[in-house]
Amino acid sequence: MTIKVLAIGDVIGKPGRRCLSKLLPLARERFQPDIVICNGENAAGGFGLTKKIYNQFVDNFGIDCITMGNHWHDKPEIHSFAPQAERLVLPANMMNVDRLDAAFRVLKSKSGHSFAVINLIGRAFMHPDNRDFFTPVEAILKQLPDQCKIRIVDFHGEATSEKQGIGHFLKGRASLVYGTHSHVPTADERIMGGFTGYTTDLGMTGPYDSVIGIRTEAALQRMQTGEKRRFEPATHDLWLCFILAEIDPATGRCVGIQRHRWEYEQMKDQITGSDEDE
Ligand SMILES: [Fe+2]
Ligand SMILES: [Fe+2]
Repeated sequence: MTIKVLAIGDVIGKPGRRCLSKLLPLARERFQPDIVICNGENAAGGFGLTKKIYNQFVDNFGIDCITMGNHWHDKPEIHSFAPQAERLVLPANMMNVDRLDAAFRVLKSKSGHSFAVINLIGRAFMHPDNRDFFTPVEAILKQLPDQCKIRIVDFHGEATSEKQGIGHFLKGRASLVYGTHSHVPTADERIMGGFTGYTTDLGMTGPYDSVIGIRTEAALQRMQTGEKRRFEPATHDLWLCFILAEIDPATGRCVGIQRHRWEYEQMKDQITGSDEDE
């Protein structure tokens, strides 16, 4: 028997949360995942995470673990709940994360299997004070209990090269390594070294009629004139992007990885219940 992990990248604001709330139940029904993980760094208005949304993800959507990224601290209230949040991880090597134990969690799947989730952040084209990511991930792997074979890493970074680099660095030692942050899904899912499920970026869950989730007009304006107009999430063309990885719980080896892109407009007829906003 294998353990199925359903991994979702950056969820963008209210449109992303709506897409998640409507399509995740359908994905659960279809694939019966044992573990569901998503990246929450853009979940609150496109920037950061609030306690209310954290609770919604965990309690209502049944998300097992929420990873973060460069926007983790955009909503100041996160400082009050992050230390106690059992299902939240912050990037280990980010310049303003100084506790290694904030960057990983060892949790139990509904089927009773122990699994670990680790969050790292890139350095290329990212904040210049982000630290080395190789040392902390080595330290975290050493701390994990031996019986915890399922090891999942969200590498939040801009450069595809760094993401592939960390994939190779962790092959044979992590079950699943995937990238987030670019908000664009890549088509390179594979099993590295016959062991580690890998994809360069999961892509965002949210509005694709946009510039990486932001209203096109404001993004273009900034590119053309440098004027900083308020960035807000776009609203149309919602996609749920995810990968589904099958992992052998006895060894931690990934034995299958598939990429999915569900477009809300095409899937909505299959949703049971109301199409209205909650
Ligand atoms: Fe993001
Ligand atoms: Fe990011």
